[in-house]
Amino acid sequence: MPDVACLNGQFSSLAQARVSVNDRGFMFGDGVYEVVRTYGGIPFGLDHHLDRLERSLKEVRISPTWTRNGLISWVEQAVARADYADAKIYMQVTRGVAPRDHVFPKVPPTTLITVTEIHPLPDGLRENGAALITTPDIRWGRCDIKSLNLLPNVMARQAALEAGAFEAIFIEHGTGNVREGAGSNVFAVIDGTVVTPDLGPHLLAGITRAHLLEVANSLGLPTAERTLNADDLYAADEVFLTGTTIDVVAAVQIDGRAVGKGVPGPVTRQLAAAFPPG
Ligand SMILES: Cc1ncc(COP(=O)(O)O)c(C=O)c1O
Repeated sequence: MPDVACLNGQFSSLAQARVSVNDRGFMFGDGVYEVVRTYGGIPFGLDHHLDRLERSLKEVRISPTWTRNGLISWVEQAVARADYADAKIYMQVTRGVAPRDHVFPKVPPTTLITVTEIHPLPDGLRENGAALITTPDIRWGRCDIKSLNLLPNVMARQAALEAGAFEAIFIEHGTGNVREGAGSNVFAVIDGTVVTPDLGPHLLAGITRAHLLEVANSLGLPTAERTLNADDLYAADEVFLTGTTIDVVAAVQIDGRAVGKGVPGPVTRQLAAAFPPG
């Protein structure tokens, strides 16, 4: 089967799946989501993604009707039906279908899972590295929740595309602190230490970020989670991004300035070689 959907436990092709226009995901962006990838048909870090999904749901006060094992069973069936070696599993839970009114309705949430094929990154990006732009962070104060409200991320990613860049990095207004990419976490290699902004309400606790820190530690590379500002990024020896669908991507240019020697650096290449995870 090609792309698969599982909508509240009902399987179909993705093209056939339908939700109501009154779904609160559509009306308000009132819901949360997760993206998991498979390597060779096996979801990577599924437990961590489900922990994060359950946390996001709790933070926005949506009580799912499924149990964790029930959801895992839907995911496994959807992955098996789609039968892609490298697939993207998208999971979305909204507050359900009800006439438009801001306050919570008394209806069951809508749970959607889709499985689609992962497309490779643009030619040469892995080998040659990516260009980034920085952009003011205009998002809300709870970016630790993986909410459906991605309008600032959409605007930022489009700005990156139009600037010929791969990703936009959100910078906090006033302080100049680096937060994260529109769909990725950011790392810098500074004097041999692998540094990434510390966690808090202003960025997502990336599953790949956590894995990368473990990999770096296991390779004996010093790591630090601390404040980074835009100047730190410009001056870093190496910069790279992490994310579920990209693994590790070197950044070789930020706002038109070369990072380090303008090519993917040795630490980034060493860390990127740990993907796909064994
Ligand atoms: C805003 C944002 N930050 C970071 C990430 C990376 O998180 P993960 O490694 O869990 O995919 C994502 C992934 O989609 C994201 O959307």
